[in-house]
Amino acid sequence: MSSRTTSPGADLHLDLRVDHGRGVRVALTDALRDAVRSGRLAPGTRLPASRSLAADLGLARTTVVEAYAELVAEGWLTARHGSGTRVAERAPAAPREPVPPAPPRTSGPRHDLMPGRPDVASFPRAEWLRATRRALASAPDEAFGYGAVRGRPELREALAGYLARARGVRADPDRIVVCAGMSHGLTLLARVLRGRGVRAVAVESAGLHIHRDLLLGAGLRIPPVQVDALGARTETLGRDVGAVLLTPAHQFPTGVALDPARRAAVVEWARTTGGLVVEDDYDGEFRYDRQPVGALQGLDPEHVVHLGTASKALAPGLRLGWMVAPADVVAEIDSGAADPEPSVTSALEQLVLADLISSGAYDRHVRGRRRSYRRRRDELVAALADQAPHVGVGGLAAGLHVVVTVPDGTEGDVLRSAAWHGLAVEGLSTFRHPDAPSGQAGIVVGYATPSDSAWAGALEALCRVLSP
Ligand SMILES: Cc1ncc(COP(=O)(O)O)c(C=O)c1O
Repeated sequence: MSSRTTSPGADLHLDLRVDHGRGVRVALTDALRDAVRSGRLAPGTRLPASRSLAADLGLARTTVVEAYAELVAEGWLTARHGSGTRVAERAPAAPREPVPPAPPRTSGPRHDLMPGRPDVASFPRAEWLRATRRALASAPDEAFGYGAVRGRPELREALAGYLARARGVRADPDRIVVCAGMSHGLTLLARVLRGRGVRAVAVESAGLHIHRDLLLGAGLRIPPVQVDALGARTETLGRDVGAVLLTPAHQFPTGVALDPARRAAVVEWARTTGGLVVEDDYDGEFRYDRQPVGALQGLDPEHVVHLGTASKALAPGLRLGWMVAPADVVAEIDSGAADPEPSVTSALEQLVLADLISSGAYDRHVRGRRRSYRRRRDELVAALADQAPHVGVGGLAAGLHVVVTVPDGTEGDVLRSAAWHGLAVEGLSTFRHPDAPSGQAGIVVGYATPSDSAWAGALEALCRVLSP
């Protein structure tokens, strides 16, 4: 059946203008003619059966039959036994609005090593489909209604077990809020903080501008905390901020894990000032050395909010994330004060993720990805050591990206050369907080981004750009 074919009982929107001196038959004929003339009913479209349209419009069937017959006589419609009444393939054409020329197609980069993205070609489609079937078969009817703001209980239950086991989070399902990705969780938190009278949230001196913008958008100031080789200098936090946003397991983008003394210092700061630590655990599952870095939240669940996401382990397009927060924060979000919209993530997707986690398929997928990304990381390090021995490579122990450091003053040249070679990477300076002093020059290379088939070409292009 072509997309232009409507079934005999299909809906047809017609604007019938019946006025004095014009009968309904004339009004119907005019409305149908207008719909064809304007292109709203495309050539070949099958019209509803006269009986069905008459019933829909509350008209006598003969009125519709006569209107159709008139339009067939005029050449707008065709009627053939067995295929019903259709818009004529060559109905008199309507004068068309001139269509503006399409913008020129800009081809993207040939090699994509942008940080922050997983290999979406490896999305576990078959597992997701199986989990969808199971979730659909077992979902209670109420799951298709408006859900609770904090998300489906099945997913909160599954996440509580998973996060405790895999990330050392102290998670109770009642302390979990399902969000549409980590960024949405941060937006909710920013509103809660603003509602409590907080005016400033400290952020790392290197980080994602989207998170800084979200906080600014909520009316918060965002003073920087300097990041060095041991992570954020949390010992410098004062009473002038009500919260701090950190990436403790794997600083983004430098890649260092927050030093244990600084982990302790930030928890102490929160306890003494009543501040909130917001932990962005965006790629905590991907650690390649044997020293797991557990979630900071495990140290003090009453002062640390843990934000996680499926964007790295599965795909950012799912828009699925979670927050594990103190009870008062969850209650405020639940009350709708932070976002009046009920849960923004589809209940069905939540049930599918819950099934994926409970069935063990999520763990299997993460382990498979971890092996694959680790192999790529090793290949990248080996290739750079061989072909660009003058650059430094950092942030290797975890995650989906590395930082390649280059001599001061050369970052711009490297980025220009990358663009010339069709290679997309990000400059380290892009992540610098606007109030932070300038620092190390370099590029951030996301080695998880290309599909398996594109990886070798992307690595070759990177070596070409960086070779002396
Ligand atoms: C530092 C950091 N945090 C969080 C995320 C994930 O955000 P979301 O869950 O909103 O996709 C990313 C994604 O690139 C990131 O780089």
